[in-house]
Amino acid sequence: MRSLAIAAALAALSFSANAETIQERTVACFACHGEHGTSETENTPSLGGQQAPYALIQLFMFREKLRVFDPMNEMAKPMTDDDLRTFSDFIATLPKPTPPTDADDPAWMARGQALAQQNRCNTCHNTDFSGKENVPRIANQREDYLAKTLAEYKDNSRHGYDATMADVMQTVAKEQIGDLAYYIAHVR
Ligand code: HEC
Ligand code: HEC
Repeated sequence: MRSLAIAAALAALSFSANAETIQERTVACFACHGEHGTSETENTPSLGGQQAPYALIQLFMFREKLRVFDPMNEMAKPMTDDDLRTFSDFIATLPKPTPPTDADDPAWMARGQALAQQNRCNTCHNTDFSGKENVPRIANQREDYLAKTLAEYKDNSRHGYDATMADVMQTVAKEQIGDLAYYIAHVR
């Protein structure tokens, strides 16, 4: 199923090499990342409102295989530097993801908020977690992706552009990742 989706996406991408508009070129991307900035695919990040400089660095890292996830490495491989910029600028203009519609668990939110304050996540990611420059927007990102990627920074299987997040995650216990991800995904 997954490889079928990737094959279709790659076909759309090579087709779109001749197409003019960025809207046409991003059809392949939205198959996984969601059409309106919000992802409905397991473990796949929402891209809406993402900081363009952050997205640019990540696409560059995928292209150079400094960040490893096979489908993304394949998607970024044919991209020129101009392409990377076009895609990242476009991503930033998509609508921001919104919090889940189900009611929050107040105790769970309080635990996550305390951890975020303790670890000063908002000093870099902004008080509303909207990010800034090379620091990503994390507000209302998918909870499953947040938990996965934080665990990967912690065990060093995701290498950031620098060691910032690996350092941050040293003081966060594995068992606390779920609370942080819940809070950030639901923050209003
Ligand atoms: C087959 C599904 C798939 C397709 C097609 C796809 N992506 Fe992705 N993308 C992913 C997944 C999954 C990740 C997260 C990888 C990880 O866990 O590290 C990702 C990560 C990203 C990121 C980093 C986001 C972040 O928050 O760190 C960017 C930017 C991105 N993709 C842009 C694109 C663009 C632009 C395209 C189209 C040219 C595209 N993607 C096509 C699945 C896909
Ligand atoms: C000193 C600044 C700093 C602090 C403090 C910080 N971050 Fe980050 N964070 C960054 C930077 C820079 C990146 C991009 C790293 C990269 O290149 O992968 C990042 C990336 C992330 C990502 C990946 C987002 C994505 O779309 O893939 C998540 C999730 C995240 N941080 C959550 C947190 C949480 C939760 C905390 C608090 C426990 C925190 N950060 C504290 C600077 C910081």
